[in-house]
Amino acid sequence: MNLLPTQIIRLKRDGKVLPAPVLRQWIQEYGKGHIPDYQMSAFLMAVCLRGFSSEELHASVEAMIESGVTLHWPKHPRFLVDKHSTGGIGDKTSLILGPIVAAAGLSVPMMSGRGLGHTGGTLDKLESIPGFQTRLELPSFQEQVEKLNIAFIGQTEEICPADRKLYSLRDVTGTVESMNLISGSIMSKKIAEGIQGLVLDVKFGTGAFFKTLEESAELARQLMAIGHQFGKKVVALVTDMNQPLGRFAGNALEVHECIDILTGQVHRNSHQEDSYADTRELSIQLAAQMMNLSGRWGNLAAAEQEARHVLNSGQAYNKFVEICRAQGGDLTRLPRPRHSRIVPVTVDGFITGFDLEAIGYLNVQLGAGRVQLTDVIDPTAGIEFHHKLGHAVRRGEPLMTLYAADEKRLHQVAEKVGACVSYGQQAPPKFSLIRKVMS
Ligand code: URA
Repeated sequence: MNLLPTQIIRLKRDGKVLPAPVLRQWIQEYGKGHIPDYQMSAFLMAVCLRGFSSEELHASVEAMIESGVTLHWPKHPRFLVDKHSTGGIGDKTSLILGPIVAAAGLSVPMMSGRGLGHTGGTLDKLESIPGFQTRLELPSFQEQVEKLNIAFIGQTEEICPADRKLYSLRDVTGTVESMNLISGSIMSKKIAEGIQGLVLDVKFGTGAFFKTLEESAELARQLMAIGHQFGKKVVALVTDMNQPLGRFAGNALEVHECIDILTGQVHRNSHQEDSYADTRELSIQLAAQMMNLSGRWGNLAAAEQEARHVLNSGQAYNKFVEICRAQGGDLTRLPRPRHSRIVPVTVDGFITGFDLEAIGYLNVQLGAGRVQLTDVIDPTAGIEFHHKLGHAVRRGEPLMTLYAADEKRLHQVAEKVGACVSYGQQAPPKFSLIRKVMS
C-alpha cells in the first residue's frame, strides 16, 4: 500500500491503525532522511494524542531496530542480560549491579544514556572518572564483554539510528511524553544489543517522568510486552522515586557513593541510619533479578544470596576496577568538589516531601547536567542529602550540602533548593522502595 506522507499523518491524526508495512517503511524512510522533520513532527504529535495499537508499536520497534545493526554474540556461552532504569535522582545502581552480575559470571553489555531533563545518566557518571572512555567501537565493546563479562557504552551511530533521529526530534517538538514512543524507543535499543534477558526499573514519583504508580505500572506492562514479543525474558520492578536514592546526586559524588558501597563502607546520617542502604538494597535486588533470569541459580532467593556474596566479598569492586582500567578510567583521580554550601532545615517538624523534579533541575543548574547539548558538565557538582522522608528535623540543622566548582552557582541554587522540601507536624506513612515486581 503506497500512501503519501500527508495521508499517513491524517490517518494517525484521526486515530486509525496503520498497516504494519506502512509504518515500518515510514520510519525507515525517515531514518534514511527521505521524510522531512516537519512531516515527522506532525506524525509524532498525532501518535502522542492518539497512541499506537500493539501491532503498530511492534512494527515501529522493528523498524527502529532494522534501521541499524543488531549485535550478535555467536557461540557466546554466557547469559546476556542488561538493566534499564527510567531515570531519577541519585539513581546510580548500574555502577553497582553491573559489576555484581558480571563478577557472578553473566555477561552485561551495558548501553547507557546521558542525563535527560532533570535526571542523571550513567554515561555522565562514568565520565566523571578521569579518562573513562564510553565511546567504544562496537567490536571493542564486544571484545571487552567477551573478556571481562561487561562493558559500558553509549548508544552508537550504528544502533537504532532511526530512534536516535526521532528522539532528537521529539525532544524539541513536545513529543517525548508519549508512553508508546517512550517504550518503543527504550526497547528497540535494548533488543538491538542482542541480550537474552532484561530487568526494568520503572520509577514513579516526584523525581520520575511518570508521577503515579498506575502510570509507571502501565509503562512497565508496555515495555515488558515488547520484550516478550521479541522473545526476551523480562522482569520489571516499579520503584519509588519520591525521595533521592542514596546519599548523593551528582556525577563524581555518585561514583564516590558506589565505591563506598562496593568496598563495604557504611555512612551514618544524623538519625544513625545507613545513608547508602537504599542504593545498596535496590542494586542487590535488581542484580538478583538479572541473575535469576538466567536460570543458573535455580530461584530468586539463591540468586540474591549470590549477589550479596559477590558484593560483600569484594569481587564486584574488583570487577569495577577492571572495567575502569579497561576503559581508561583512573579512579585515583576521581575529583572532589572545590566548594560546598550547607542548606539548612527551615522549620521544626517532619520531612513530608521532596519536589525531586525541581531539585533535579537545580542540580543541573549547579553544573551536574546540561541545559543545552553542548554544555560541559562540572563532574564535581551535586547535592548531598542528609535526610529521608519522615525524618524528624530541627530548624537550622543541615538539610542538604551543595557542591560545585563554581561558587556563584552554589549561591544561586542555595537560595532556591530549600523550598523544594516540605515539612509537616506528622511523619508521612512509611512505604517500600520496591512497590511491584512484574514478570
Ligand atoms: N529513554 C529513551 O531511550 N527513549 C525515550 O523515549 C525516553 C527515555
